[in-house]
Amino acid sequence: MNDIDLLHELAPEAERLLERHLAASKEWFPHQLVPWDEVIKRDPRDEWDPDFRPMPDAVRRALVVNLLTEDNLPYYTTEITRLFGVDHAWGAWNRRWTAEEGRHAIVIRDYLTVTGSCDPIALERGRMQHAEYGFHQPITGSADGFVYVALQELATRISHRNTGKLMEDKAGYDVMARVAADENMHYLFYKDVATAALAVDPSAMVLAMERQVRSFSMPGAGIDDFSSAAKLIADAGIYDLGIHHDHILVPVIMRAWQLEALEGLSPEAEEARVRLVKRLGRIDKVAKSQAARRQERESRSGD
Ligand SMILES: [Fe+2]
Ligand SMILES: [Fe+2]
Repeated sequence: MNDIDLLHELAPEAERLLERHLAASKEWFPHQLVPWDEVIKRDPRDEWDPDFRPMPDAVRRALVVNLLTEDNLPYYTTEITRLFGVDHAWGAWNRRWTAEEGRHAIVIRDYLTVTGSCDPIALERGRMQHAEYGFHQPITGSADGFVYVALQELATRISHRNTGKLMEDKAGYDVMARVAADENMHYLFYKDVATAALAVDPSAMVLAMERQVRSFSMPGAGIDDFSSAAKLIADAGIYDLGIHHDHILVPVIMRAWQLEALEGLSPEAEEARVRLVKRLGRIDKVAKSQAARRQERESRSGD
């Protein structure tokens, strides 16, 4: 089935899920979550002092990575418009989603600036670099789009949530928990759109799953020095391969989308399913050996 027919077929479900989303979402205001009292302790225009608000490097880097990821919203909106179009509920969903995502960057940036938690000059340079880089995940059509965005929203939710849990500041924890709750609702929309797409064209969806798991990278992968930040973030337990496997790939692909129980697949999709199941097994193996190595390093450094 081509993309136009698939989107047309799924339009009533997209509309139902948009209505569900609107009924469940609660209005919230970034300025109400920002601890403005902090600003009297230091002037945010002064040269940044990393000792003013000490926190583990991994948490600071995670906050900046999470914010810079949110900052690239213009490219995500463009990409989603390209993939899902503006007809029926698709356009209304994309506009609503864009408006909600915009709040995330507002609240995290205000929090970081007011509390002096990161260098505002480095942050702005990082935003310029990331936005000039754009977004380059290979997503060829709407089936791939549904799969990537569902996985990505869940990954982003977990990353925001785990970052917040490591913050020793109630206001910061609340900001990240609030943003994570939004990401969860975005995840639910796309996960259920993808479930509906599986009923319409299971072969196209299995091929898309195999491609997207194989090429998956976080939307912030284009941030300068992302790999060193990702390593710190992994070592801190905010987001690593084990979390990717246990809390994203398995719950979504194996349990929600029931990869192994799907019927009526084309021979090509059957082969893709076998490859994907094997890949999940390999990811699990690598994740477990990475975790064992990390534990060994930690116990050695604790001696
Ligand atoms: Fe977001
Ligand atoms: Fe989101």
